[in-house]
Amino acid sequence: MMVRSHAPSSLMGIAVFAALLFLLHPSSAQLSSNFYATSCPNVSNIVQTVIQQALQSDPRITASLLRLHFHDCFVDGCDGSLLLDNSANISSEKDAAPNTNSTRGFDVVDNIKSAIESSCPGTVSCADILALGAQASVVLSGGPSWTVLLGRRDSLTANQAGANTSIPSPFGSLANLTSQFAAVGLDTNDLVTLSGAHTFGRAQCRTFSPRLYNFNASGSPDPTISPSYLTTLQQLCPQNGSGSVLANLDPTTVDTFDNNYYANLQNNQGLLQSDQELFSTSGAATISIVNSFSGNQSAFFQSFAQSMINMGNISPLTGSSGEIRSNCRKVNGS
Ligand code: HEM
Ligand SMILES: *[C@@H]1O[C@H](CO)[C@@H](O)[C@H](O)[C@H]1NC(C)=O
Ligand SMILES: *[C@@H]1O[C@H](CO)[C@@H](O)[C@H](O)[C@H]1NC(C)=O
Ligand SMILES: *[C@@H]1O[C@H](CO)[C@@H](O)[C@H](O)[C@H]1NC(C)=O
Ligand SMILES: *[C@@H]1O[C@H](CO)[C@@H](O)[C@H](O)[C@H]1NC(C)=O
Ligand SMILES: *[C@@H]1O[C@H](CO)[C@@H](O)[C@H](O)[C@H]1NC(C)=O
Ligand SMILES: *[C@@H]1O[C@H](CO)[C@@H](O)[C@H](O)[C@H]1NC(C)=O
Ligand SMILES: *[C@@H]1O[C@H](CO)[C@@H](O)[C@H](O)[C@H]1NC(C)=O
Ligand SMILES: *[C@@H]1O[C@H](CO)[C@@H](O)[C@H](O)[C@H]1NC(C)=O
Repeated sequence: MMVRSHAPSSLMGIAVFAALLFLLHPSSAQLSSNFYATSCPNVSNIVQTVIQQALQSDPRITASLLRLHFHDCFVDGCDGSLLLDNSANISSEKDAAPNTNSTRGFDVVDNIKSAIESSCPGTVSCADILALGAQASVVLSGGPSWTVLLGRRDSLTANQAGANTSIPSPFGSLANLTSQFAAVGLDTNDLVTLSGAHTFGRAQCRTFSPRLYNFNASGSPDPTISPSYLTTLQQLCPQNGSGSVLANLDPTTVDTFDNNYYANLQNNQGLLQSDQELFSTSGAATISIVNSFSGNQSAFFQSFAQSMINMGNISPLTGSSGEIRSNCRKVNGS
């Protein structure tokens, strides 16, 4: 009797547990690597070809495209909301503080979209184009490959206020960064791993110049910048100079995706405050991860592939939610 009554109830327990797991991860379960296998089998090649073309005249474009996926995913999930331009109904995320005069590559996203529409009209979302563009960009710059999960759909709205608050600031403390990552389901390992994207690309003087002259209202430079790097940066970014002058995020191998970012941190040559804090915050759990990636590029690459999948899984629209935009800048029919 006892045995017979236990069997169905534990089966029921497993079913309830499985349903709970599903509810906790409702959308990531719906993305798949073969989503366009029959509807647009060549989509990855098309994306890669257009980016390769853009690279001929713009060595920075791969970095810029990787960053677009990040700034899309951190605001209401990976839903292409970042790509919408201003209109009667839309306050563009492009005008939010972390994006204005900073995010770039939107013309290349348009070129990718046009090339895909020629082969498979009305099929591939702009949100998926950003995920595929991020992966192709990393590979074309010497970094790891991974299987991109697909099937995201595009939002009907933008969230400019969300972009102002959800995208981490370069002036934030490690606690700020950690909590903003946690808010989208990413942990400390994801934070250290994905910050390794600062192995290529550029940052404007205004994003780090407080560190050079008056750090944290102390009247002095940030003590965690090495003296020689401080001199170099002060020459590039004079105190009352233009805030829009560009510095390389990785001064050693500027356009290559490698693990030098982590050695830079160990050498007190992190460009942004948010970079150097990962290594210089005393007692932080991030330090040993920096050391591990600095000493082992494979470990970094493996972790980067996994963390990009984690980031790409942030609350996508799937099924019949949202739409497949025909122009990444506009909601269909508007
Ligand atoms: C951890 C928190 C992060 C902060 C505070 C941060 C902040 C910044 C800032 C301030 C810039 C320079 C923007 C400018 O001067 O116009 C930048 C550039 C960049 N960021 Fe981040 N970022 C973070 C995480 C990430 C992540 C997770 C990725 C991607 C996985 C990423 C990829 C990039 C890339 C590739 C660039 C260079 C873009 C270009 O040259 O166009 N960042 N970031
Ligand atoms: C796939 O796309 C690439 C790059 O755009 C193109 O060269 C190739 O011909 C395409 N292949 C097929 C089967 O359409
Ligand atoms: C942004 O760029 C525009 C045009 O280049 C310029 O007029 C404006 O001053 C810039 N704004 C900031 C905050 O740098
Ligand atoms: C977002 O920040 C920008 C730049 O600081 C500001 O102009 C805009 O009004 C803010 N938007 C919202 C909705 O908070
Ligand atoms: C960091 O978090 C604190 C507490 O939430 C907040 O007051 C502060 O503005 C944040 N700083 C940055 C640069 O995001
Ligand atoms: C900035 O200064 C405040 C107040 O003196 C201090 O609590 C904080 O830890 C400092 N932050 C950094 C990153 O040094
Ligand atoms: C920068 O500008 C401020 C305010 O205009 C001025 O007090 C300061 O002397 C200037 N600094 C330099 C290095 O030119
Ligand atoms: C480097 O990391 C890879 C991947 O995690 C691991 O298999 C390998 O054993 C590590 N190598 C060393 C020397 O620790
Ligand atoms: C734009 O807003 C107007 C008025 O709120 C509404 O009637 C219209 O359907 C909206 N258009 C789109 C494309 O969302």
